[in-house]
Amino acid sequence: MTVITNIQDLKRIYERRVPRMFYDYAESGSWTEQTFRDNTTDFQDIRLRQRVAVDMSGRSTAAEMIGQKVAMPVALSPVGLTGMQHADGEMKAAKAALDFGVPFTLSTMSINSIEDVAEYTRAPFWFQLYTMKDEDYVRRLIQRAKDAKCSALVITLDLQILGQRHKDLKNGLSAPPKLTPKTIANLATKWRWGIEMLGAKRRNFGNIVGHVQGISDASQLGAWTAEQFDPTLDWGKIAKLMEQWGGKVILKGILDPEDAKMAVKLGADAIVVSNHGGRQLDGALSSIRMLPAILDAVGGDIEVFLDSGIRSGQDILKAMAMGASGTMIGRAFVYGLGAMGQKGVTTALEILRKEMDTTMALCGERSIAGLGRHNLLIPEDFSGRWQD
Ligand SMILES: Cc1cc2nc3c(=O)[nH]c(=O)nc-3n(C[C@H](O)[C@H](O)[C@H](O)COP(=O)(O)O)c2cc1C
Repeated sequence: MTVITNIQDLKRIYERRVPRMFYDYAESGSWTEQTFRDNTTDFQDIRLRQRVAVDMSGRSTAAEMIGQKVAMPVALSPVGLTGMQHADGEMKAAKAALDFGVPFTLSTMSINSIEDVAEYTRAPFWFQLYTMKDEDYVRRLIQRAKDAKCSALVITLDLQILGQRHKDLKNGLSAPPKLTPKTIANLATKWRWGIEMLGAKRRNFGNIVGHVQGISDASQLGAWTAEQFDPTLDWGKIAKLMEQWGGKVILKGILDPEDAKMAVKLGADAIVVSNHGGRQLDGALSSIRMLPAILDAVGGDIEVFLDSGIRSGQDILKAMAMGASGTMIGRAFVYGLGAMGQKGVTTALEILRKEMDTTMALCGERSIAGLGRHNLLIPEDFSGRWQD
């Protein structure tokens, strides 16, 4: 029996338990994967200042994100196909997050539907919107999120066109998996996943199948989604979507100070500094490297969250001390879910909180609000010296 002490332990179990196609889907970046790799390694360039003889009692990791109280400044990022990593994956991950006291974000491209998650959790969650060419579908999707009492709309801006991940093409990624000699051979070694999946509420895209004319089953779905991402999305369209929603809005996928300023202009409540976990523009800088410039541009004007590359409580602390108002995690919770279902997501969150709390103490801090750049040693050229 493995003693699970960190996120990497969960990843190892996840790799054993989940079909290769879905492991590869999560554990890949686009093209050369340079940005995917940098997202995690760049955190290591930042060091921490150890302080001693500070009263460390009564510490708390509690914070607020868009006015919501959170047990720690971490939300679950929207992750497509989460319900293929584990049966009823979105329902389970949402329950774990909300019970723990952190926000859960449901992806448009989820397996469980908005309604499934709302019924299972009975607590407000965030809904992530991909804008599709079918405007009527988008309008109804926003209405469904309102009916489910979602507490924020996360509009993803960095996927108007899909970055290429070589492995997904080679594996013939689909939900549910197509049965080929290769997938059958692999599935035969993942019997626990298969048995649980037989009992799952859904095995294809729950927010789409049955809600789009002409799409009643998975066979027509691949072609529809590939064509549907809206290449014409611009700031004017974003403003209209925000108006349709009428509630809290988080704009996700911002990696440039100029775009961050536009988000402020539009009146968004928060932005997520993100490169989609290295899955879109390969060659872009890591989120953590872009964070200082974005904070300098809009820091006091809007809440600035960060995702892409967080694998430990120390990473969260570094982003918060640099000045972020919150963080989000994608793969770190997926590893837990694939390894052990709902319990695995709880374990991932517990690991992150414990690491953050201990690090906070050793840095001589007792609260998230007390964290600042004084806790960090940031290399002088951390943001890079680039020609104009
Ligand atoms: C398997 C996978 C699927 C994803 N699907 C979505 C999605 O449907 N919508 C979205 O906005 N972002 C999606 N993302 C990006 C995440 O929301 C998040 O930005 C990213 O995972 C953060 O990086 P990290 O995994 O290193 O924490 C996905 C990421 C992964 C790994």
